[in-house]
Amino acid sequence: MAEAVPGKSVVVTTFLRAPVWREHAERLAASLGLPCRPEKDLPADALQLRVQPEGLELAEPEDRPGRGLMLRAPESWFASHSPERSKKQLLGRALGRSVQSVIDATGGLGEDALRLALMGFDVRVVERQPVLAAMLDDAVARLGARLDPGRMTPVRGDAREVLPALDPRPDAVYVDPMFPPKRRVSALPRKSIQIIRALAGDDPDAADLVALARQVARQRVVVKRPDHAPPLVPEPSHDIRGKLVRYDVYLNV
Ligand SMILES: C[S@@+](CC[C@H](N)C(=O)[O-])C[C@H]1O[C@@H](n2cnc3c(N)ncnc32)[C@H](O)[C@@H]1O
Repeated sequence: MAEAVPGKSVVVTTFLRAPVWREHAERLAASLGLPCRPEKDLPADALQLRVQPEGLELAEPEDRPGRGLMLRAPESWFASHSPERSKKQLLGRALGRSVQSVIDATGGLGEDALRLALMGFDVRVVERQPVLAAMLDDAVARLGARLDPGRMTPVRGDAREVLPALDPRPDAVYVDPMFPPKRRVSALPRKSIQIIRALAGDDPDAADLVALARQVARQRVVVKRPDHAPPLVPEPSHDIRGKLVRYDVYLNV
């Protein structure tokens, strides 16, 4: 596992007065090796991992409750005819019709993993940054019965260690590392990306992860890239392009 927090420091807190929430926050902080502080005693420069009824939220000090980061899943996404369930989306097309089991090797907040699960793939989602891994566990628990059993399973750890140990091997591995910064910066990246980068770093080992994934995936590896960046590993078999992102597909069959 990565160190608890290699980048920005994090404190665990809850704004709720009931002792049960305080105990929950203290247990979580102890499991992550992080400090737990009450609302009135929070440092001005640390990210806050807030324990609240809606789930764990990662927030900057100035964020009002509910305005921080967490995996949010609108109820409409779960309706049987929701466009979110269609494999005609770019990511669904990149994975293709014959894939069933997918390892999402770079889980983050779990947004892509949830999209894959809604499309009907069986997804195991790996995250090595301990705070994000705890948020993923919490998010999957909150999704509960809205997803079929086994559709989205969180795995804590470094995918470079998890992938070689998998038996059976997955049909596909999906990799979405931190995007490299644009050469000419016209706007700051989304706030969520800035926070995740502050916490998890730049993923400098992403090319090694893709190379390993290509040895493990039975059918294909899909890598998400910004439109401005070259492939992370040379010569994808093909790509699926959107306006701002591209999915590079490496076929093994
Ligand atoms: C750009 S974010 C992924 C966002 C994610 N696709 C989503 O939809 O929320 C990259 C994440 O991958 C994680 N990561 C990078 N390399 C990893 C590895 N080898 N094993 C596990 N997690 C990794 C980072 O900690 C970071 O949280």
